[in-house]
Amino acid sequence: MDYVSLARPAVRLLHEYSAGTTIDQAKRRFELDRVIKLSSNENPRGSSPKALAAMATLTGANLYADDDHLHLRARLSEPYGLRIENTILGHGSNEILLMFFLTFIGPGDEVIMADPTFSLFPADAIVTGATPVRVQLRDGGHDLDAMLAAVTPRTKAVIVCDPNNPSGTCVDPAAFAQFSSLLPPDVLLFIDQAYREYMPAASVEGTDYVKSRRGTIVTRTMSKLYGLASVRFGYGFADQGMIDLMQRVRVPFNVSSPAALAALGALDDDEFRLATIAMNDEGKAYLEAAFKRLGLFAYPSAANFIAVRVPVAADGAYTDLLKRGIIVRSGDKLGMPNFLRITIGLPEENRALVAALEAELPVWRERAQIPA
Ligand SMILES: Cc1ncc(COP(=O)(O)O)c(C=O)c1O
Repeated sequence: MDYVSLARPAVRLLHEYSAGTTIDQAKRRFELDRVIKLSSNENPRGSSPKALAAMATLTGANLYADDDHLHLRARLSEPYGLRIENTILGHGSNEILLMFFLTFIGPGDEVIMADPTFSLFPADAIVTGATPVRVQLRDGGHDLDAMLAAVTPRTKAVIVCDPNNPSGTCVDPAAFAQFSSLLPPDVLLFIDQAYREYMPAASVEGTDYVKSRRGTIVTRTMSKLYGLASVRFGYGFADQGMIDLMQRVRVPFNVSSPAALAALGALDDDEFRLATIAMNDEGKAYLEAAFKRLGLFAYPSAANFIAVRVPVAADGAYTDLLKRGIIVRSGDKLGMPNFLRITIGLPEENRALVAALEAELPVWRERAQIPA
């Protein structure tokens, strides 16, 4: 039986999501004892202790959970002046993205997005039969003018990833306000803010647009700042009318009881949140200064990772760092050749990274001189 011919044509166009190298894979490949993982923008400090403690109180795992999660949705939405009806929960924010596509996007639709940006945006467009319309970044950031110019009568949605993965850049708040006012009112606006907590104070606040512009959705996650990537919990805010429709495609009980407990615990964990932000800010300043000293260009980061340019092919640089026990993400796979995407780590991890770069750079620079 030829399964490929049985698959929906859209599926034939897709590749499996590539999650990057795991610590175990790195250890096995180069027989390493210790590996530093700076490749998936996780929280290097671990998980919110209050989230872990809340998860440990789990009882009644034999029963289906209360699928409305009213208390949790209220806790998430109230600080923004939003309501339970504006709030949807997901098995990570990835799932909310997919629910958005399954609800609103179909064959013949165009979805405008940056290039490069988070790989699931084009993947979800393709899987729903739509066309991803990719607009090149300008200076590593969203080119909002070009994105507006790309709007056609077929445009169903525009996605803005703020901060953008993999470049780490954020959009200018004034430019974004203008962009959103010029976007045709029947075009949906999807703002992915997976890294919102790390952003500078005067950044785009996606929920403001949920309140002021119909057809806008913003997504957030507890995978990053709260260190709950494996627990899987994300959430989204939008107009009640949008949320009601998306609830129809939501898989029942998509948020497990442990995940809901963890989310509630995390929301009480100001100490962990603030300490993580402080450590990330310090690490970012340290790495930015080190990259400058080493003569490496990096995009200004509004997130917990930095995109830095290396003088050789990114895949080669990635492998050289891996041999030294440091996993980073090669930009070659992310549409950013010659760049590495590096998660800001613990202070000692950042120092180890800089030492590894210092050791490799003379070799890379020499290699770059040799014509291929
Ligand atoms: C821009 C962006 N959006 C969404 C996600 C997915 O987050 P979650 O773990 O909540 O599904 C990621 C994860 O890397 C991301 O970088």
